[in-house]
Amino acid sequence: MAPPAPILATRSLGLDIGGARIVADVSLEVRAGELVGIIGPNGAGKTTLFNLLSGLLSPTSGTVELHGRDITGEPPFRRTRAGLGRTFQVSSVFPLLSVRENVRLAADSELGGTMRIWQRASRVGAERADQALERVGLGGRGDSPAGLLSHGDQRKLEIAMLLVGNPDVILLDEPMAGVSVEDVDELVELIRSVHEEEGKTVLMVEHRMEVVIGLAERIAVMHHGALLAFDEPDEVMANETVQTAYLGEPL
Ligand SMILES: Nc1ncnc2c1ncn2[C@@H]1O[C@H](COP(=O)(O)OP(=O)(O)O)[C@@H](O)[C@H]1O
Ligand SMILES: [Mg+2]
Repeated sequence: MAPPAPILATRSLGLDIGGARIVADVSLEVRAGELVGIIGPNGAGKTTLFNLLSGLLSPTSGTVELHGRDITGEPPFRRTRAGLGRTFQVSSVFPLLSVRENVRLAADSELGGTMRIWQRASRVGAERADQALERVGLGGRGDSPAGLLSHGDQRKLEIAMLLVGNPDVILLDEPMAGVSVEDVDELVELIRSVHEEEGKTVLMVEHRMEVVIGLAERIAVMHHGALLAFDEPDEVMANETVQTAYLGEPL
């Protein structure tokens, strides 16, 4: 029997901006239900890859496929509707709105993006928002202004904002960024449970190697826009090309 088609794939994906190669010939196949870690030095192109996957940027070459369908030309909201959700490296929470309102606005997959608040938003009910908050451990915090949450809780809120749209594939861009050390374990467990219990396919850019190695089934290593390796954690760590590329650069 042929192996199942990848849920998300890129084929020779590339992005040049003003003569600079930002993403170079990235071919990546992610299986349904897999948790993939993406690592690489600052400026390696990880966030840009997410922008190409979610449709915020259009590639100059190559294609993106979701559920076996070419979505390269589709705008972000269509990709959201097709089951692709993402969080941002920089928090996308509205600090003055309540935690619950943030989730209700985020659920509006028709509009997509982060600027929905200024558009006509078709909000989900408070009940569904509260279920999503319960799911991430923020039950009871719905009335607080989101800006009053700790950084760790704001990251959980962003995951609730993602889950309420019920995506099958989620892209997490440095979900632990800015989170204090004592809050990391809870977030790791949340991501693990979303992956394992709900069967979500997860792609996660993360700097903390112990987090990536602990969570990821496979690790993709990016360097100067290219995919240097994509393999199981042990293989990646033993990979000489990876070690050489990281020489003098923090892993
Ligand atoms: N819109 C843009 N215009 C020009 N250069 C960009 C743009 N976006 C990102 N870059 C450059 O592309 C490279 C990759 O950036 P990025 O994807 O943010 O890296 P990472 O997330 O791996 O740290 C960096 O050198 C960055 O300066
Ligand atoms: Mg980045």
